[in-house]
Amino acid sequence: MRKLTYFIACSIDGFIGDPKGDGSSTYAYVTGEFLEYLKAEYPETIAAHAWPVLGIEAGTPNRHYDTVLQGLNSYRVGLDVGITSPYAHLRELVATRSLAESPDPHVELIADDLVGRIRELKAEDGPLDIWLCGGSTIAGELIDEIDELVIKTYPQVFGAGMPMFGTDFAPRDFALGDVRSFDNGVLVRTYTRKR
Ligand SMILES: NC(=O)c1ccc[n+]([C@@H]2O[C@H](COP(=O)([O-])OP(=O)(O)OC[C@H]3O[C@@H](n4cnc5c(N)ncnc54)[C@H](OP(=O)(O)O)[C@@H]3O)[C@@H](O)[C@H]2O)c1
Repeated sequence: MRKLTYFIACSIDGFIGDPKGDGSSTYAYVTGEFLEYLKAEYPETIAAHAWPVLGIEAGTPNRHYDTVLQGLNSYRVGLDVGITSPYAHLRELVATRSLAESPDPHVELIADDLVGRIRELKAEDGPLDIWLCGGSTIAGELIDEIDELVIKTYPQVFGAGMPMFGTDFAPRDFALGDVRSFDNGVLVRTYTRKR
């Protein structure tokens, strides 16, 4: 079985962005040692248009994921500035009930039975996993399908904002795996779902 991994950036108090989801206050931390780690360990989670800017060579292999899933609101962040295939190096899926036609032939839309489609993808053969990019709504809907969390915590407190999971209260247990800290205060923790 392939894993569904929610690889996500958040504040110390667990918000993935401001109340509308904008996390741009954290961008100043994506530098130096932490940026080099991201480029080396998770290049596929960096949008394709940023690769040349960051010095990532075209054709750099995916290391963890071969598929990315976004909710429409997350996909819209790129779409609104004309980016229709932000992760062209991955298989791209977007959950939406309102968008009738995909803006890009590389992007598959999922309108019905999201959980069923994710289970199909997880059952496919392959060495690499599925990256749940976000946002909050879709992560809340898929919370019980998530096998792994990779949480990039930036050293900021937001006080309020968009939660990591848009769902109801119900504790779920995860086992702590790898923990990496960086000189600028960013922390990356990996957790595996206990079932
Ligand atoms: N900090 C980070 O690392 C990070 C990562 C990703 C995103 N974000 C932020 O998260 C924000 C967006 O989060 P969000 O919670 O507003 O929205 P979202 O989860 O990205 O997208 C929600 C949309 O997905 C579709 N959807 C949800 N469940 C579905 C289902 N079962 N079947 C089919 N379609 C479904 C619906 O689209 P329709 O309305 O078309 O039906 C829904 O409106 C953005 O601002 C983005 O910047 C942050």
